[in-house]
Amino acid sequence: MGKAWPDTRRVTFLPSGLTVDIEIGETLLKAAQNAGLHINASCGGSGVCGKCRVLLKTGSVAGGLTEKLGEPDRAAGWRQACTAVIENDVTVEVPAGSGKLAGGLSTGVAERHRSRLRKYDIDELRQAGLLQPPVEKLFLELPRPSPVDNMADAKRVIQGLHNQYDEKAMVVSLSVLRKLRRVLREDDFRVTVTLARPVHVYKGKNFLVNIQPGNWTSRSFGLVFDIGTTTIYGQLIDLNTGKILDGAGDYNGQISYGEDVINRIIYAETPEGLATMARVAAETMNRLITKLLDAAGIDRDEIASITIAGNTTMTHLFLGLEPHSIRRAPYVPVSTFFPPMRAGDLGLELPHHCVALIFPAISSYVGGDIVAGVMGAGLYRTEALTLFVDIGTNAEIVIGNRDWLVCAACSAGPAFEGGGITHGMRAADGAIKDFSLDPETLEPMNITIANRPPLGICGSGLLVIVAALLSHGVIDRRGKFTRHQTSPRLREGRSGWEYVLAWREENGADCDIAINEVDIDNLIRAKAAIYAGIKTLVEEVGLAIGDLEQIILAGAFGSFIDLDAAMAIGLLPEVDPAKITYVGNGSLMGGRLSELSNHIRRDVVEVVGRMTSFELSEVNGFKDQYIASLFLPHTDLELFPTTAARLGLKKIEAKFSKAFPG
Ligand code: FES
Repeated sequence: MGKAWPDTRRVTFLPSGLTVDIEIGETLLKAAQNAGLHINASCGGSGVCGKCRVLLKTGSVAGGLTEKLGEPDRAAGWRQACTAVIENDVTVEVPAGSGKLAGGLSTGVAERHRSRLRKYDIDELRQAGLLQPPVEKLFLELPRPSPVDNMADAKRVIQGLHNQYDEKAMVVSLSVLRKLRRVLREDDFRVTVTLARPVHVYKGKNFLVNIQPGNWTSRSFGLVFDIGTTTIYGQLIDLNTGKILDGAGDYNGQISYGEDVINRIIYAETPEGLATMARVAAETMNRLITKLLDAAGIDRDEIASITIAGNTTMTHLFLGLEPHSIRRAPYVPVSTFFPPMRAGDLGLELPHHCVALIFPAISSYVGGDIVAGVMGAGLYRTEALTLFVDIGTNAEIVIGNRDWLVCAACSAGPAFEGGGITHGMRAADGAIKDFSLDPETLEPMNITIANRPPLGICGSGLLVIVAALLSHGVIDRRGKFTRHQTSPRLREGRSGWEYVLAWREENGADCDIAINEVDIDNLIRAKAAIYAGIKTLVEEVGLAIGDLEQIILAGAFGSFIDLDAAMAIGLLPEVDPAKITYVGNGSLMGGRLSELSNHIRRDVVEVVGRMTSFELSEVNGFKDQYIASLFLPHTDLELFPTTAARLGLKKIEAKFSKAFPG
């Protein structure tokens, strides 16, 4: 069957004449957003503020009629863009005072750049010859014992595996032996066996880890976990199809014992502290496992395998390894490799036969989560010179290709995960993820996740907001409000000058949602650490930014990243946006592939062995790079020529330095 193309309709906006093709069922507000057109909308598209009204000129839409529009307005053709759903080609007029082109970020459809989602699907794995699950279910129909065939039950199974599947060396686990007699006879010697194929130990020997009466080969499931310092995410995987059946996340229970890794380590150094850390992480995971299995209607016993990745401290704490030396120079972990183990031995409520793989780490500050990302994104197999950046509280940077890899970690702070930002939040429903600004009235267009009334700002929203404020001269290149414009949205708040994104009555919080100079300063420090880390590492291996052939982003951002905004604030180096892709949670992606491919499990050992880790604080010039990066986008605009021209930064700077000398 051919690919089903989405059914689209054309929306024309007047008076600009901008047009955009958009899928049936999307809203007019989404169409405007895609077109890079600003429509006043401060309630996140939830239908509350009543500011997004547009006038229908031709065609029809479904909905768009709320109590904010009186009967005469409705009859005249006014509709609310956020609730008006596209069914036909339409032309709408955007009233004066709304509908300016979104300044700086977008000057039309063709110029707005989003990172493309990089997928690594099961077909690609199959085509590359990498699909070989480490845990597999096989169905056996065995001959019944008889006076001339009275071999032991275990030998009968091993013989059957050899005859039917050419399986040779096999170790049968004690738990299988204990139930073998009963299970074989329950369905007349028709059984499903679960084989685990370890790659590093017991070379060449497979383990027979479970046996069930009847044919259960169509039901084989695995779990993948990313143990983050703040959040633990899990996914349930169908090992036959490679599909993600469900995903869930929750705050890491360890958070009550310290917000960051250093405080967790300090707590783990107290009596019982380490055991507590391991227990509460497992408790969070057990809650998520129950949630995932219940939602999918899958029995706990059907889980054959689990892959876990986390930063080095999280892995140590989960496994009960003393993390003391991780926080003290020369920053030595107990181990960077971990043997395959039984999930039950780790405090996880999973069956005895469930095998756990823990991703290996590089160093104390480049952990298994990054290794999983490198494997998942295929960085270790590509010829292209690649920059991989995982942005979270710590930003980890990897540069290289299939021939060589170098890596480093830099402390970015939690701004990109919503931490240290007055109204910051994770990428969840109600988070402002996109934004533009009317250059004259300074009225906002807030787009939130799930079109809920705004609750706060997530990482991707933060980039776009600061970039828009910069491009309209609302803030200067130091991130300070220029105060030359007047708007009720600009005011002096408790933490200095701020811009109000959503008034209390329009949002889902119990106060006005604003962004202030302290927030912007935290963002600037975070992006400076990352940019300086990238530039230092690139130069340390004798390259220049221009040599990079592709950039792969992973981490905290909840959806596609606005690349224009990322370059406008100087988070990412200025490159052709077509070179940039986004993988979401790289740790989960790598974990999922490891559930499906023994090749990835085998290759990871070799990859870890050839990744060279740099300690940035020890590298000459890193500090200078960091200080130079504490401007938007950078002290040296020559590093961002296209961005500076697009945003008119030199002109804005000249205008303000004239009007407000000093
Ligand atoms: S009513 Fe449509 S965005 Fe607020």
